[in-house]
Amino acid sequence: MKRAIEIIPSLLSADFAELAQEIKKVKQAGCKRLHLDVMDGHFVPNITFGPVVIESIRKRTDLYLQAHLMIEQPERFIVDFGRAGVDGVIIHQEACDDFMRALREIKKQGMDAGVALRPKIPVESIKNELTELDTILIMSVEPGFGGQAYIEGSEKKIKQTKILLEENGIDIPIAVDGGVNIQTARLIANAGATRLIAGSAVFRGDVIKNIRALYESVGVKR
Ligand code: DX5
Ligand code: ZN
Repeated sequence: MKRAIEIIPSLLSADFAELAQEIKKVKQAGCKRLHLDVMDGHFVPNITFGPVVIESIRKRTDLYLQAHLMIEQPERFIVDFGRAGVDGVIIHQEACDDFMRALREIKKQGMDAGVALRPKIPVESIKNELTELDTILIMSVEPGFGGQAYIEGSEKKIKQTKILLEENGIDIPIAVDGGVNIQTARLIANAGATRLIAGSAVFRGDVIKNIRALYESVGVKR
């Protein structure tokens, strides 16, 4: 299936005192999804927000909400994120006690299930769970903070992921998270990813203009 390129804003770089306004701009710019980075101070050295905040966000928007869980034992909170109104949950394999069970629990709660791969985790590590996945997210920075530089050469991993999926006859979108900007977006899209998650490149400055510039950088006029 040929997929259109999507820019998915990551709320991590938004003004948290103005969340409703920030989200409104994302919608106005024509985005369909919002990326929510949940961090616990253990899996990554930073803390953000959890289901309580997401529940409030849910009341203000009909955007597809994807929670990227950078927390230890994410299975403890899957039900809570479902109740908060999350549409898709993305987890890290090495954070789970039982990765397959965690993915199945996400589906059982009626949400899409995705995996995120840190830069050092090879894509082969998830080859046994491919049929359970709705998306694969390649991290092009170490998880934990917004505004880091894109790790050069991450395109290679995108291509490897594409090959692994094709070899297994699986057609799911590949997402890239970290250091996406108007320079790197083209490389990422050319390598075969269709979901480009961008935090600082969206929320630093004029959100609507930034999203338009990101789309233009990958050849999409809006
Ligand atoms: C990093 C998060 C990213 C982050 C990306 O751990 O997973 O989603 O918001 O931020 P930028 O786009 O600024 O690299
Ligand atoms: Zn993320």
